[in-house]
Amino acid sequence: MILDVDTGNDDAVALTMAAMHPDVELVGCTTVVGNLTRDQATDNTLRVLHAIGKSEVEVHAGLARRFAPSPYPSAPNPAEGMFHQDTLPVGVAGLTPHSWRGVEWLVETLRRATHPITLIQVAPLTNLAAALTVAPDVLDSVEEVIVMGGAWKKSGNRTPAAEFNIYADPVAADVVFRAGIERLTVVPLDATHEVLVSRDDLRRYRELETSAGHVVSAVTEYYIDSYYATDPHGIGALLSAPLHDALCVAYAIEPAVLELTEVTVDVETVSPQNYGRTTIDYLHGSSGTVGNARFAVHADSERFHRILDDCLKR
Ligand code: BDR
Ligand code: CA
Repeated sequence: MILDVDTGNDDAVALTMAAMHPDVELVGCTTVVGNLTRDQATDNTLRVLHAIGKSEVEVHAGLARRFAPSPYPSAPNPAEGMFHQDTLPVGVAGLTPHSWRGVEWLVETLRRATHPITLIQVAPLTNLAAALTVAPDVLDSVEEVIVMGGAWKKSGNRTPAAEFNIYADPVAADVVFRAGIERLTVVPLDATHEVLVSRDDLRRYRELETSAGHVVSAVTEYYIDSYYATDPHGIGALLSAPLHDALCVAYAIEPAVLELTEVTVDVETVSPQNYGRTTIDYLHGSSGTVGNARFAVHADSERFHRILDDCLKR
């Protein structure tokens, strides 16, 4: 597995799961601008790996700017900057990534691969769009691409129409969704809002007295507080938060955690109101295109928590 992250508080949980689960061979991580700057995300990724004793996992810093700059001066989002800590309260300062050539490393690693690799994308799709643009042949080595992004029946979380990862670089998402990926799995807000982590869960993680348990409880506490501050009448009222990115890793470990349906996903890259919106055609072809993705319509929360607990015990 290769994990593309903009760490980020929920990315930190995804990263911990991927690094700790014995069935996962985490080949490396690429970082990208998204929740935070590319450099902050890189530092946070290194901190998490250090804190859980997995510093041997390679981190390659990817792109610091979008694949395609937004044509719209994006209105400041009052919640921006609240969900993710610039510096996560784990690990140590001053670590350096293996390289600052994340896209090149991704291309070279896939070209050299002797067995298929799953790409888990839990950030704007900037790095992957760049890699597929310069080296479309790398798809030959890809087992599956799993994307956290988009929304179907739920409203967006960055704008009423758009989910954050897609909104941040919709043209990159469009490039990826149209790349002809044989096995593309999209995990939208509709599914991730079904796996909530609560303060009670955090207490349980702390009691495990493992590094992974401490890291996940530390980063998730802030995340729950942020949901409470920004959405006090919704998820915040439950004193819980959705672990969007972690659900993608849980699915790679145990596919039954998601209920999938074949759809065509399109991304809006023009309209000012709907910029970054994902359009889901589940009627097979009414949009004139053939299905390009398997879309998560539900998540099994109990199973998710079992997988997460299992990773944190180690
Ligand atoms: C996605 O946006 C980011 O803030 C999270 O890390 C997650 O990848 C959820 O919309
Ligand atoms: Ca993320």
